[in-house]
Formats: sequence, C-alpha cells, structure tokens
Amino acid sequence: MDLKIAGKRALVMGASRGLGRAVAEGLLAEGVEVIAVSRNAKTIQEWAGEAPGLTALSADLSDLASVEALIAAVLDRGGVDILVNNSGGPAPGAAATARRGEWLAQFEAMAANLFHLTAQVLPGMRSRKWGRVITIASSGVEQPIPNLALSNGIRAAVVGWSKTLAAEVAAEGVTVNIVMPGRIQTTRVAELDAAAAKRTDSTVEAVQKASAAVIPAGRYGSPEEFAAMVVFLTSDQASYVTGSRLRVDGGAIRSI
Ligand SMILES: NC(=O)c1ccc[n+]([C@@H]2O[C@H](COP(=O)([O-])OP(=O)(O)OC[C@H]3O[C@@H](n4cnc5c(N)ncnc54)[C@H](OP(=O)(O)O)[C@@H]3O)[C@@H](O)[C@H]2O)c1
Repeated sequence: MDLKIAGKRALVMGASRGLGRAVAEGLLAEGVEVIAVSRNAKTIQEWAGEAPGLTALSADLSDLASVEALIAAVLDRGGVDILVNNSGGPAPGAAATARRGEWLAQFEAMAANLFHLTAQVLPGMRSRKWGRVITIASSGVEQPIPNLALSNGIRAAVVGWSKTLAAEVAAEGVTVNIVMPGRIQTTRVAELDAAAAKRTDSTVEAVQKASAAVIPAGRYGSPEEFAAMVVFLTSDQASYVTGSRLRVDGGAIRSI
C-alpha cells in the first residue's frame, strides 16, 4: 500500500533506540524526511549512519531551553508535517512513595515539554491543512501497571491533552492520536524486567516468562510491530482516524 507520505517531513522524539528508533526507520522506509531526536544525536547516528533523509539532532526533554532550541531548529527547516511525541519512561516506583519533585520533573519531560513542542509546530500543519500528531503513551493508561505510578499518572494527563487537541484541529486536516504499547521488547523493557527480577529475588527469564504468559499473543511485541501502527496513522489513508487511542499489546488489555 502506498501510504502517500513520501516527501513529508517528520520529527520523531526519543529516536535513538526502542520504539522511537523503529518509528523513525519505518518513516524513512516510506520516503519521509525524518528529524530524529534524542539527548545525544551521536546515538542516532550510530544506527542511522548516513541514512538519506535523516537529520539527527540533540535535545533534552527535561530541559526547556534545550526544547526551545530544538523548536527553533525545526521551524528554521520549515516545520514538520508529522510529529511523533515520545519520551523516556520514568523509573519504576509506587504511588504511595513517589515524591512531589519526581512528579514535577517527569511531568515536564513526559508531558509539558511535549505539549509545548506540539503547540509550536501545529500552526504550520494547520496552515498546510495536513498534519499528524502521534503520542506514544502506554497500556498503563487503560489498566495501570503496578509499580509504574509516575508513568500511569502522567500518561493519563497526556491522553486527556491529546483528546482535547484532536477536536480542536480535526477540521483542519490535522489528526491527533495516542498509541499505547503493551510489552514491546526494547532496552527499557529489558531494564524493567531486570529491576523486577531483583526486586522479587527472581531471574529475568522467570519475569519475562510470567509477563508473556498473561499476554494472549504469548510473547512480547517487536519494535517493528509497534512502529507499523504509528506509520499507518501518519498515512493519508488514516485521515479520518483522530482522537483515538490504539493499543499495540498482543491483546494484553482485557477490557472492551
Ligand atoms: N517498550 C514498551 O513496551 C513500552 C510500554 C509502555 C510504555 N512505553 C513507553 O514508551 C516510551 C518509549 O519506550 P522505549 O521502550 O522505546 O524506551 P527506551 O528504550 O528507554 O527509549 C527511550 C528513548 O527516549 C530518549 N530519551 C530519554 N530521555 C530523554 C530526554 N530527557 N530527552 C529526550 N530524549 C530522551 C532515549 O534516548 P537518549 O537516552 O539518547 O536521550 C531513547 O531514544 C517510553 O516512555 C516508555 O516508558 C514503552
């Protein structure tokens, strides 16, 4: 299927590894010009090499000045048609013990600075009457994941923001959606599994086996399986999908 996005320009956050990297690779394969961002652009260049159509930039989502510099660089290039909001995930921890400072710091990096970035690139999308804003959240917004309080809480706010924005810009050709990974095999998930093994005095293999056992698909997903959904949402064909939350979780969330 021709997704009709060749020649569009995308900004992909958190693109040095994992889900963001897979999305950036998927968009490049469709002929999209990709601005890929992480805290250290060198880590993007390590996987991308001299990939045609890719520009790697450094920006830290926890630092407003750095986000402002990124916005200026992106607007200097004429803005973007596609924005993939993705951030690093917070450390595991309980709601009962999470500190106020942690909530504020993570809200900046995972929510406020992405909202700000989106607001700055939206006018270009609206004036061109075509835009795609896709934000990576988590299945934890539908079914909170134990011991991931910061993620569950902050991402619920991100979903509320995305849904509100979707209605504001739907008539102008801009779609706004959330994609929710379940358990996708990335470095972060490997780190979370290692932390769970340590916490429960178990092994990583046992933790992974127990996690996979409650997923109807019987396994973790791959970053490429996740990225395929995001890339489809950027397509011309997905023009009537907006204000939605889409799960890529192998059936893990049981509610309807
Ligand atoms: N994988 C899953 O199954 C899953 C499930 C639910 C939710 N999620 C969420 O989806 C997001 C991506 O997941 P992932 O598994 O791909 O995570 P990951 O492997 O940890 O990748 C995170 C990406 O974000 C970048 N990043 C981290 N902190 C940043 C910051 N302050 N500013 C700019 N970039 C930053 C990292 O690059 P640098 O370190 O180079 O900056 C990296 O490219 C995370 O928020 C995660 O919590 C993932």
